[in-house]
Amino acid sequence: MKKVILTALLAALCIVFSACGGPGAVSTPKDEKDLIVVGFSQVGAESDWRNANTLSMQTALSPENGYRLILDDAQQKQEKQITAIRNFINQGVDYIVLAPTTERSWDTVLGEAKAAGIPVIIVDRMIEIEDTGLFTCWIGSDFRREGDTAVTWMDSRFGNAPLRIVHLQGNIGSTAQIGRTDGLDAGLAAHDGWQLVFRSSGDFTQAKGQELVEALLEEGQGFDLIYSENDNMAYGAIDALKKAGLRPGEDVKIVSFDASSTALHMILNGEISFDVECNPLHGPRVRAIIEQLEKGETPPKFTYVEETSFEKEGLSEEIISARGY
Ligand code: AHR
Repeated sequence: MKKVILTALLAALCIVFSACGGPGAVSTPKDEKDLIVVGFSQVGAESDWRNANTLSMQTALSPENGYRLILDDAQQKQEKQITAIRNFINQGVDYIVLAPTTERSWDTVLGEAKAAGIPVIIVDRMIEIEDTGLFTCWIGSDFRREGDTAVTWMDSRFGNAPLRIVHLQGNIGSTAQIGRTDGLDAGLAAHDGWQLVFRSSGDFTQAKGQELVEALLEEGQGFDLIYSENDNMAYGAIDALKKAGLRPGEDVKIVSFDASSTALHMILNGEISFDVECNPLHGPRVRAIIEQLEKGETPPKFTYVEETSFEKEGLSEEIISARGY
């Protein structure tokens, strides 16, 4: 009898200890009511980059890690993001994470989140807002630096030699488009040999990238280089070139952004010449920010992630497979 009572006592002590997270506590999925609820308004599913970004958020903010993530896909429409944020406020989420489509017109809805006392973390692209107190912090890429990196490579390869450039832009008004376009514009201004023969938005999608380049080729427009503001538009452009009997990488050089795994393989096979990394793995970064906030700490207001770039020289299968996307 004594032994039974002792065992029961020990078991009860163990439960108390694990509930307090004491020594030897076993990590078990938390009760639904203990989870931190995060509403994530995602831009869409327009690219490999975006899908890797969504997966990174879902993995980091999982129930096993103590989170319930409510994901809303805005299909690249700002109105849908505004509706999603209002829904998150109505549901009383603990945090809102916003990956903004475009930079402008967030003041009203973020004011509503602030009034409801919900911290807002911005990821990936930037927002243009008068009162920066309407969001807690931002983490993402330096898109202008990405554009400058591409132009520096173009300068190193072509100098001021005649170069007819086709420019496939991303979603107009998004930071990714603005920064990468500004980088190219600065390059064009500094090289009178470079000529912009075509510029249009392919909305960051493969289908639009292909459509634009096909139409251009049908018109008979000649060009030497495609500056594609993301990998998926570059894949579409490559398909269009091949359909027209042209050799991507030989007849037409391709410069792209994102450095997702498929694109890096296209560097190895010679189809893409240069790719500037845009890092989508924001999930663990957002989780670290929320952990800081939960402890009452203040994360840095703005954090730029480190990024690199790739060309054939120095790239290998090992490097590609060691990357997370
Ligand atoms: O904001 C990041 C950009 O958005 C990526 O370059 C692009 O692929 C995505 O759609």
